[in-house]
Amino acid sequence: MSELEQQLQSARAEAEAALAGCTDLPALDQLKAKYLGRSGVVSAALEQLGKLPKEEKPRVGKLANEVKRALEVAITVKRDELEAKAAASGPAIDATLPGRRHRIGHLHPLTQVFERTVEIFRRMGFAVEDGPEIEDEWHCFDALNTPPDHPARDIQDTLYVDLPPDPKFGRYVLRTHTSPVQVRTMMKQKPPIRIVAPGRVFRRDELDATHSPTFHQIEGLYVDKNVTVADLKGTVEFFFKQLLSPETQVRFRPHFFPYTEPSFEIDLSTPQFRARGKEWIEIAGCGMVDPNVFKAVGYPDDEYTGWAFGFGIDRLALVLWSINDIRLFTENDVRFLEQS
Ligand code: DAH
Repeated sequence: MSELEQQLQSARAEAEAALAGCTDLPALDQLKAKYLGRSGVVSAALEQLGKLPKEEKPRVGKLANEVKRALEVAITVKRDELEAKAAASGPAIDATLPGRRHRIGHLHPLTQVFERTVEIFRRMGFAVEDGPEIEDEWHCFDALNTPPDHPARDIQDTLYVDLPPDPKFGRYVLRTHTSPVQVRTMMKQKPPIRIVAPGRVFRRDELDATHSPTFHQIEGLYVDKNVTVADLKGTVEFFFKQLLSPETQVRFRPHFFPYTEPSFEIDLSTPQFRARGKEWIEIAGCGMVDPNVFKAVGYPDDEYTGWAFGFGIDRLALVLWSINDIRLFTENDVRFLEQS
């Protein structure tokens, strides 16, 4: 065996031993350069090939190529092994990095007012009732002592639904208030009745800062024997102080509604209002249920008395969040929604 052949054999043995002990990819790259690189051991041997006697050239050349191929294969096998090991141990994790925060949503401001309102009345023993948004004229107006020539039924206020009228209850309308839920409740149950009815109502109004074709009310109804205006006043005052603050002032002003007698409008004043020089905001209508309403739902004469109210939920939300434009509730401006 020539000297060159011996060199090649020992380089191969040395390389294989080094590969067996190699544990990381940078070290593997170094080994590859040392044995197979341009100035590596195998290249050097091949360069000396030209100086060999003619008869030795094929034999030594063949050996050099075998060694080269064997080392290439061994290095590839080792590289696969090391890469698989690195992948299995996973990417480097910095456990001290702060986590990615989830953005937590919250209920819409109007839903919050509804929920808080219902919760306060529930604690006072009121149940929750519901009624259809597409109402008929009888439940929305006639049964509420609102005759056909009343301006509230005017085409300018009421949105009529393009459906064939009900033979008994008349044309269909988008309810203009939640008061028909009073009628529906009294028709299906006898007093004592204590209910609130949250819901959406519709009127032919142009949208601006204080008007909308759709807004929200919560209706209240309490019917029993010997219910008085004092009960109404006490309950309403208690409610607003609970919802807003104990410093809230409530004022009853005589008014007219067809379905209550006497009737009142309720005004509110909060410390924030007073600080801004604005004294009162009109928030609701209420009164003692008119005997004609009891008659319409079939209650016996003079047996019961009761009171009712209708609060504007959007108005209450304006007060709660100190804003002055109801369009904020439907425009989904994230800057408003996030801080309310
Ligand atoms: N329905 C009235 C409105 O939409 C509010 C109202 C007033 C409701 C007096 C009542 C009531 O129950 O007794 O403006």
